[in-house]
Amino acid sequence: MSTQGTDNPSANAPDTARESRFLIDPYRDWAEGEGIPIHLDFGHNLLELETGTWDRYEAKGCFAHTHGAGDFMANYVIEVAPSGKTRPVKHLYEVFCFVLAGHGSTKVWLPNGETRVFEWGPKAMFAIPLNCQYQIFNGTSLSPVRISCTNDAPITINLYHNLDFVFNNPCTFPERAGQSKHFEGEGDLTAYSHSTNPVKRNVWETNFVHDLASFKLYELEERGKGSTNISFILADGTMHAHVSQIPKGRYKKAHRHAAGTHVHAIDGEGYSLLWHEGDSEFKEIPWRHGFMYTPPFWMFHQHFNTCPNPARYLACSLGSRRYPFISLRRKSAEGAGSLSLTQGGRQLEYEDQDPRIHRKWLEEMKKTGVMSEMGEVFDEPAIMALPPEALTGVISTPRSNGPAI
Ligand SMILES: [Fe+2]
Repeated sequence: MSTQGTDNPSANAPDTARESRFLIDPYRDWAEGEGIPIHLDFGHNLLELETGTWDRYEAKGCFAHTHGAGDFMANYVIEVAPSGKTRPVKHLYEVFCFVLAGHGSTKVWLPNGETRVFEWGPKAMFAIPLNCQYQIFNGTSLSPVRISCTNDAPITINLYHNLDFVFNNPCTFPERAGQSKHFEGEGDLTAYSHSTNPVKRNVWETNFVHDLASFKLYELEERGKGSTNISFILADGTMHAHVSQIPKGRYKKAHRHAAGTHVHAIDGEGYSLLWHEGDSEFKEIPWRHGFMYTPPFWMFHQHFNTCPNPARYLACSLGSRRYPFISLRRKSAEGAGSLSLTQGGRQLEYEDQDPRIHRKWLEEMKKTGVMSEMGEVFDEPAIMALPPEALTGVISTPRSNGPAI
């Protein structure tokens, strides 16, 4: 019964216990309670992050949180000692595992009582079907296994804020288990297009990919000449993953989108530039295998290959091609992510770029000795001859036209 407004002086006294029940972030509280290091930065070298004993997995681990992760997604790293294994674990959030280093196997207990075991090495990727119990084994006695686990635990834990419900829930999801072949590195290739942008998008449905570095990709020239790509639907999930490749001597077009895309370099070397509309300076992130970062919400980002080989990366985000989940992701899945800003999309075409972008890349390429193969797009001698005053001030971007979101 409310006592507000009574004459009893103690009835209007602050209830300190109640006052503290505000501004709660159950995901963050859970992470802090796990007792492992929490790293927070723009991006991380996941191969070198300090890990600590993680009782939940009976292994080691750390959180690799990023400033641009947004509200829905997060990442943690699991490290399994030589010849070691994790405790069997299950949870009501999705997780995509990218093997950073080491060889081992994963055992998954399916809702029908069967188990699946699959072996993997560096640069493999697998998804755990929702709420299935799983266990990770290091298959060698030589070196630790390190796995990047991109997940949507923030949604799940913040929505229910009941850890028993999230980590000890008897509900099963047999429709998400996937076929036997989906645990053996096989899958199903499909494609779709949308009236917004009729370019065909290739999608591979599976639970496990042996090697993202050699997996077959398909042409996606609209993101830059020579660009190749494939999207994944993993364990019928709401999370999305895709792999893209940048050819030698080239770079991708800039674009922007929702927060939470965890970009992992797979192979090759290069850097990314990021900027908000109105910025005068670029944020630069160098990368090679092991590096992961998340472009913040609506921040332009652009990936540059500077090495003598193709460069690949893996991007994991919320909103799959099957279940876009949020309207911003639906727009991306419909093709807005590779449609020009001037046509209502989110992509910055090469001809609309600030000249500093190509000039910086040419300077970086000079250091690595790799020749530009973009001379047919840019007047490179003219860009290198620009006076200093042409290379300062607000980074130029075209006026966006139409519904960008
Ligand atoms: Fe992106």
